[in-house]
Amino acid sequence: MSKSTVSNSVIRRLPRYYRFIGELEKQGVVRISSRELSERMGLTASQIRQDFNCFGGFGQQGYGYNVAELHSKIGEILGVDAHRPAILIGAGNLGRAIATHINFSKFGFELIGIFDSNPELTGKETGNLTIRNTEELESFCEANKPLAAVLCIPREAAAEAADKLISYGVKAFWNFSHYDLKIAHSDVTVENVHLGDSLMTLSYGLSSNRSDERD
Ligand code: NAI
Repeated sequence: MSKSTVSNSVIRRLPRYYRFIGELEKQGVVRISSRELSERMGLTASQIRQDFNCFGGFGQQGYGYNVAELHSKIGEILGVDAHRPAILIGAGNLGRAIATHINFSKFGFELIGIFDSNPELTGKETGNLTIRNTEELESFCEANKPLAAVLCIPREAAAEAADKLISYGVKAFWNFSHYDLKIAHSDVTVENVHLGDSLMTLSYGLSSNRSDERD
């Protein structure tokens, strides 16, 4: 099955498989059956087999999965070793926290620049990067060709910023701005992130007492 025909829900499960199987590898587990994996992950064995079959299937009949191999193959599909250059726009509270606490290289990206429109922030250090003014954005993109941008700016600024960034060659947005970016370019990809949605799901879980889904 080609990448473009794999359903969104399968793709959304891949990072969890990657994380979970990485933990098993760290614990020294060498191989695992789909039944054991399903029990540990709270999924059905047939769901796991179906998901992995979208990528050609990784196991061997009667053997199960080689944990290290499975981890590496899922990592490859996710592109975790790709070091894609990324920039962050908006060096406020959220932007600085993300720049400091997210290990981009572990997830396939390398944070190479941080920008803010407030001149008072220009030149300040965040993590191991110096905040630049957005006036430098175009020339920076021309020289460094970032593929992804993390948007940590207010909702009102997001659409215009995204348009500019696309014209500078950015192809992916990790968007925290609370503006639901829907981009009409087929070659641009967007992940809208709302931490509040996750919290509301937690609230729903409490009010409806659901305990069947785990992360
Ligand atoms: P903040 O006010 O501390 O920082 C925003 C920064 O963006 C400021 O430094 C400002 O100068 C800069 N900025 C504004 N317009 C800009 C532009 N066009 N280009 C470059 N820089 C620009 O706000 P905070 O707390 O960092 O939050 C940022 C945004 O993220 C807010 O809109 C907030 O609602 C949202 N947010 C979203 C979360 C989520 O789960 N999606 C969680 C927390 C905050």
